[in-house]
Amino acid sequence: MHRPDPHSYYDAAQPKARRLRLKLAVDFKAKRIEGEVVLEFGKAFSGPLDLDTKGLEIRTVQVPGHGPIAWELGEADPILGQRLRLDVPPDSQEVVINYRTGAEAMALQWLEPEQTEGKVAPYLFSQCQQIHARTMVPCQDTPIARIAYQAEVTVPEGLTAVMSAGPTGDEALGNGSHVYRFSMPQPIPSYLLALAVGRLESRELSPRARVWAEPETVASAAWEFAGVEDMILKAEALFGAYPWDRYDMLVLPPSFPYGGMENPRMTFLTPTLLAGDRSLVDVVAHELAHSWTGNLVTNASMEHFWLNEGFTVWAERRILRTLHGDDAAALGWAMGQKALEDSLARFKNEPHLTVLRMHLEGIDPDDAFSSIPYEKGARLVAALEQEVGEDRFLRFIRDYMDAFRFTSITTEQFCSFAEAKLPGALEAVNARAYLDQPGMPVTAPAFRSAQLDGLTKLAESWVAGGRPSAQQIASWKPAELQVYLQKLPRQLTLADCAWLDEHFQLMGRGNHEILVEWLTLAAAADYEPAFPRIREVLSRVGRMKYLRPLYGALGGSPRTRALAREIFAAASPGYHGLSRRVVQSVLEAYSA
Ligand code: BES
Ligand code: ZN
Repeated sequence: MHRPDPHSYYDAAQPKARRLRLKLAVDFKAKRIEGEVVLEFGKAFSGPLDLDTKGLEIRTVQVPGHGPIAWELGEADPILGQRLRLDVPPDSQEVVINYRTGAEAMALQWLEPEQTEGKVAPYLFSQCQQIHARTMVPCQDTPIARIAYQAEVTVPEGLTAVMSAGPTGDEALGNGSHVYRFSMPQPIPSYLLALAVGRLESRELSPRARVWAEPETVASAAWEFAGVEDMILKAEALFGAYPWDRYDMLVLPPSFPYGGMENPRMTFLTPTLLAGDRSLVDVVAHELAHSWTGNLVTNASMEHFWLNEGFTVWAERRILRTLHGDDAAALGWAMGQKALEDSLARFKNEPHLTVLRMHLEGIDPDDAFSSIPYEKGARLVAALEQEVGEDRFLRFIRDYMDAFRFTSITTEQFCSFAEAKLPGALEAVNARAYLDQPGMPVTAPAFRSAQLDGLTKLAESWVAGGRPSAQQIASWKPAELQVYLQKLPRQLTLADCAWLDEHFQLMGRGNHEILVEWLTLAAAADYEPAFPRIREVLSRVGRMKYLRPLYGALGGSPRTRALAREIFAAASPGYHGLSRRVVQSVLEAYSA
């Protein structure tokens, strides 16, 4: 027996499923999916087969032509869930499992109509990364076992289903239900399985890109993301032909716990990106970049997550630089630096979570999640780029993507490839310090620009009375204001808050990066005029990136702590399970 992924029961001595055929019936009343999955192996085999499940109710397991076969569920591990061991008879090519999802399926959030924009129909979405696919489908839930899939999804008439796959048709069943069919012909890791069901409409953005959203938001979504084809073209010029046919996007309800999720052919996005001024499209650049780094070349397990995210952050900023220039890219790196420092501070007592090549046996990958694989990873990639020069590095990246297309690899595989193609470069940038040592190497690249230096200086002069001029206030783009706010002292006075709010009109901002940065400062200052807006944001938005700092900043005074507990009590039924867990841990740290 050999289990190569500490977060899966997958046994490398057993065959991998090559394709899944899914039949999913979405039951909004019971908040469950009735599922049938056929795991196709593409060749005959027999013996034990270990699958991942979590909270699933297994009903029957069969082999076509043979009938029911024996199976057994192992003990429930709080992180991994339960191993489902099948006893596969000789000459089997596929197994068929009938099952039902559990009430607590972490991959699924079932929304009441009131939690949607239209408020008339329920909504369901999935989020399988890191290891939640097993709460939706019994499978080898590790990126090592890549699968193609096809699916048939039955939903109530009037609702639309989308998946991380191409649509292949739909029809009314005449009994109040509607079936949607999908096919994903390319092999993907299980964490990229994705489904959403709701009242959805779409708008075409280019011959290969459209955006889906509720009817109430689809027009503003189409406006916000109108530039996506331009981004795809820029990304193709850097990394080669777009490998997934279509690039469609879905704007979710506000409880979606992430900013974006790179589900192939259907990127999922938080509606907090709809700032009304296209100022947050860097998240689209990021998810699009995952089409190459992450979805095409995939981390072999969460221990190598930096291969997905570090490369993607680097790629995202490369795309932004070609689109918007060096100043914009430098601001992006500065925002990343702030996120990196916050994460390093959060993990100051857990230095093993600040290395890139992680060791996560017994650790929940959602607990290990931070900006470190993103930003420390991107800095290692940028250091290599600076070491060998941009052109040579881009050729290397293309070779890398060719060599490992549609495979899932480890840090060690990346390093041997890099050593073969760019001899000496890893050592020259001291890669081991990034990969195996906590914190940041002192030699890490610094990203500067005159514009960024100006903003930094101005923010640092705040306590001494330095203030932006009226002309600066009027001319700053959203990214400049965001970086400026990030660089202000964390503890402001009430008068400071009032000055900022008045001069920058912060309370009414639609750009949630700016709004939340401001509300975080206001919360830390116990600035009462911001309380209603803090309550509004925390009650509506489930994006963990915002919940963590905002609830964290409310921990500073007894009054704001009480406010936080009261808001959480009212808002938590509407939060995604992941978001609820994050906020609970923040609130628990208050009293300590
Ligand atoms: N793949 C991630 C989201 C994710 C990570 C989901 C880990 C579950 C577990 C996605 O590509 C991402 O990084 N999103 C960021 C966007 C940002 C870095 C531009 C986010 O959600 O904030
Ligand atoms: Zn990402």
